[in-house]
Parts: sequence; C-alpha cells; structure tokens
Amino acid sequence: MNSTIENMLQHVSVRDFKDQPITPQQKNDLIAAAQHGSTTEFVQAFSIIEITDPKLRSKLADITISSPHVKKADTFYVFVADLHRQANILRANHESLDSVKNMEALLLSTIDTTISAQNMAVAAESMGLGICYIGSLRNNIAQVAELLKLPDFTIPLFGMTVGVPKSKNQLKPRMSPANQVSINSYDESQFNNLSEYDQTVRNYYINRKTNPANTSWTEKNLAIFKEVHRADVADFLKKQGFSLK
Ligand SMILES: Cc1cc2nc3c(=O)[nH]c(=O)nc-3n(C[C@H](O)[C@H](O)[C@H](O)COP(=O)(O)O)c2cc1C
Repeated sequence: MNSTIENMLQHVSVRDFKDQPITPQQKNDLIAAAQHGSTTEFVQAFSIIEITDPKLRSKLADITISSPHVKKADTFYVFVADLHRQANILRANHESLDSVKNMEALLLSTIDTTISAQNMAVAAESMGLGICYIGSLRNNIAQVAELLKLPDFTIPLFGMTVGVPKSKNQLKPRMSPANQVSINSYDESQFNNLSEYDQTVRNYYINRKTNPANTSWTEKNLAIFKEVHRADVADFLKKQGFSLK
C-alpha cells in the first residue's frame, strides 16, 4: 500500500484544533488540489469561499451543530455548487436557462463541488492537517446564502474546517467491502447483511473514549432517517432558480 492510500485509510474528522495557523503556502496547495479534480465536461461548477471575517464566521458557526470547532479551526471554507457562471453565459447569448435549472444540472454541480472538497480533504490530511465537513450549514441554507451574498444558481453545500489537529477521534470502522461492492449487479443479500457490521459498530461506540454509546449502525440510521430533515431545502433551491425537474 502506498503512502497516499495509507493516509486515506487513517482519515478521521477532526473537531479539536490547535491554536496554530496553517501557512499561506498550505492554503494555496489546498486550493490548487481542490481545483484540479475531475469536473463534469470541464464546467468546473463550484466556488470556494474562505471565511476570514470573525463576525461572519461566528454567524455561520451558530447555524451549524458544530459551533465550537467551526469557530476554533484556523481556516473555514464554504463549498458552493455554482452554475451562476453558466447562467451568465446563457444570458449574454440570449439563450434559455432551462439547462442550468434542471435536476441534471443540480446533480452535476453538487458532484463537481463534492469532488473538489474531497480533493482538498485528501490534500490537507497528506500535510498532517485535520478537516471536518460541515453539512449543518444547511440547517439554515437560506441564511447562509444571504450572509455570503450568493447569486442565483448557487448552493452553499457544506463548509470545511481545516487546522492543525489537537486531538483525533478513533477511526470509525467502515463496512466490509462485501456490504458495498459487487460485480455486475446490485447484491441485495450481501449489501443488506449488516449484522456483523452492526456488532463492529456497536463495539466501536461502546468502547470509544468520547461520547460512548450503545448503538449499532442500523440503529443510528433508523434514528437519522425516521425524521425528515431540512424540508426547506427544496424551496431554497427553487428560489435560487432550480426547477427540480
Ligand atoms: C457532507 C458531510 C457533512 C458533514 N457535516 C458535519 C457537520 O456538520 N458537523 C460535524 O461535526 N461533522 C460533519 N460531518 C462529518 C461526519 O459526521 C463524519 O465524516 C462521519 O461521522 C464519519 O466519521 P469520520 O469522518 O471521522 O470517519 C460531515 C461529513 C460529510 C461528508
């Protein structure tokens, strides 16, 4: 196994950072890595906003479930799915906006944005930095868009904290490949045979040092998915110009 993969297999989300800045060179490298991922048809449908204003950071942090570490991390980026450039090109050419409004465009821009973020995450971890995605920005997606002055055809998908780790959680055990990988077709019996994994996850939660709990992966997912979350997101997307069709 090479060192890139070894680093990837050591990934944990970091939520406890040292009071130590990351260097301008490191930031440049992170942005370069984020910009050099694959991108659908070369459209590069994302933007990255670094939040340096402490008041703005604080307002954004208060929207999330992760306020303390969003405030404490040295660097905080917001990843924006962005088809505004394409909309401007269409407008300048008096063309219909239908192609940036539809579900396919929405998927494309969220995919491109997520690829760029994960490139940044891998780059950060290769430098010994820690990261945490902050999807809970979407707790109030409309307010985030307002605070960041986002134009139409943009979506603040998630934030990412980056900093020097002070402490790290234990690795969270992933599913066996048998639960997630198959050949030629979806393997219902393998993919949903989760009893062994449930036990592994239960052991992990019972034994972990911070916030121990007696719960399995299935129980966790039931707790998450038995409620509908962020039902306002669809209205926000429509407000941004997407048709959701
Ligand atoms: C899109 C996305 C959004 C996330 N949002 C948050 C968040 O708002 N706050 C947080 O503390 N962790 C957040 N996480 C981190 C996940 O909880 C974490 O990746 C998961 O529990 C697995 O743990 P690990 O990353 O340590 O392996 C997010 C992860 C992703 C991919």
